[in-house]
Order: sequence, then C-alpha cells, then structure tokens
Amino acid sequence: MAIFNNKKNGAEERLPENLPQHIGFIMDGNGRWAKKRGLPRTFGHTEGAKTFRKIVRYCKDIGIPYISFYAFSTENWKRPKDEVNAIMNLFREYIIDVRNYLSENTRMIFLGDISELDEDLQQKIRDLEYDTKDYKEMTLMMAVNYGGRAEIANATRQIAQKVKDGELEISDINENTVNDFLYTHEAPDVDLIIRPSGELRLSNFLIWQSAYAEYYFTDVLWPDFTPKELDKALIEFSKRGRRFGGV
Ligand code: IPE
Ligand code: IPE
Ligand code: MG
Repeated sequence: MAIFNNKKNGAEERLPENLPQHIGFIMDGNGRWAKKRGLPRTFGHTEGAKTFRKIVRYCKDIGIPYISFYAFSTENWKRPKDEVNAIMNLFREYIIDVRNYLSENTRMIFLGDISELDEDLQQKIRDLEYDTKDYKEMTLMMAVNYGGRAEIANATRQIAQKVKDGELEISDINENTVNDFLYTHEAPDVDLIIRPSGELRLSNFLIWQSAYAEYYFTDVLWPDFTPKELDKALIEFSKRGRRFGGV
C-alpha cells in the first residue's frame, strides 16, 4: 500500500521516507509517573495532558495526517471516582484548549460513546467536532469512553437496524460495511500503534483497525514521552517489512 504523507519543517532530512499515515497513541503510565515522585495519580494525568499537546503539535509539524489518542477506555470507569472526575476535568480544560488549534486547520473527531459523559462535556465535544469538520490538514481523534469491542457491537447494531429497515441485504454485508459504522470510518486504518509504559497489550484500542498495524512499545512513561521518542518509533516503523499477506 502506498504510504501518503506531507512531510515538512525539516522532517524530510531527519525522518525516513515512509512515515505512517495514521498513528495511534495509547497514553499509558501517568499513574506510575506520579507514584515514582510520591505524588497523587492525578498529577500524572495533568503531566500526560501536557505531553499530549506536545505530541499533537509535533505530529502536525512533521505532517502526519491522522493521529488517534486513547484517553479513557470503557474499562476506566472502574477507577476511583476522584480519579475519573480529575480526568474528566482535564478533558474539559483541554477540549477548550484544543480550540487554539482551530486556526491551524486540525479536525477533531471523538471516538467512543460520549452519551455517558456529563452533558456539558458532550456539548463541548459536539461543538468542537462541528466547528472543525471542514479542516483538512490533520485529523486528531480522541478516544474517550472508547472500547474496540463496544465499537464493533455498536456497528453491528446499526447494521442490523439497516437490514431490519430493508435498506441493506444480509449478503451485501462485508468488511467495508463494518468499517463504515466504526467511529473511525473517516480515517484510514491505523499504521502504527505506540504504547509507552512497558505494557505489551492493546487494552481494547482500535482492535478492528489495527489488523495490520505495526506496534512500537517503550518503557518510557507517557508524561516523559517526547518528540525524540516518537522519531525513534518512526525510524523503527520505516524498517518494518509490511506485506499485508503478500510476498
Ligand atoms: C493512562 O495512565 C491514563 C488513563 C488510562 C486514563 P494510567 O493512569 O493507566 O497510568 P498507570 O498505568 O497507572 O501508570
Ligand atoms: C489503556 O490503559 C487505556 C488508556 C490509556 C486510556 P490502561 O492503563 O487502562 O490499560 P490496562 O488496564 O493496563 O490494560
Ligand atoms: Mg495504565
């Protein structure tokens, strides 16, 4: 598959020829970052949010067209209420903050079931998606209350409804049909998934979209993750032989 990108700002010299078109980040290790410093876990989330901002900016600088960030999973509701509230408040701040990117031609899409979030947060999310819908330079996807299995179950429900309503034949259901009902339907499959913090798993992130993704794991905790770390992942990615089942 041809890999499209629009490298710029010196990335042409510094980075390999074939950059991923879509990178997924599992922002993990915030709690351990705080614990190592004897701080409450929420401090780690605040630091992690700063890293998020830095990495978004860097991806834009080097011309990555699609980026997805795993911010809160369907399983993360199991955490103590205080921690969940602190994370939600960070979304409030950062969602407002992301408006600073509007002038920079970045589209924002949320992945996940936002109907379970507080009403004010839902409204902010809807406004942000609407206000940025025509921006084309980069698409930034935020996975909030996101789970890959829930996403596929949700797609299945919508497809079943179409069949029931007589708008779709069962025999016409194929992989593209499923893809069309995923939260990510406007983005290409993820090429590279980066997980910091030393965990070697997906934790229910983009499970359909990552069928042919490359993975990059590092022990660095998310609040310590830097553009330099991302460069390492990009160089590693460029060396992988992606065959997609071919020879
Ligand atoms: C990731 O960091 C942030 C969220 C899941 C919201 P963690 O909070 O999972 O950090 P660790 O894994 O406990 O260090
Ligand atoms: C994955 O991290 C979810 C996010 C980064 C939002 P977790 O910390 O929740 O994953 P597990 O529990 O270690 O698998
Ligand atoms: Mg974790």
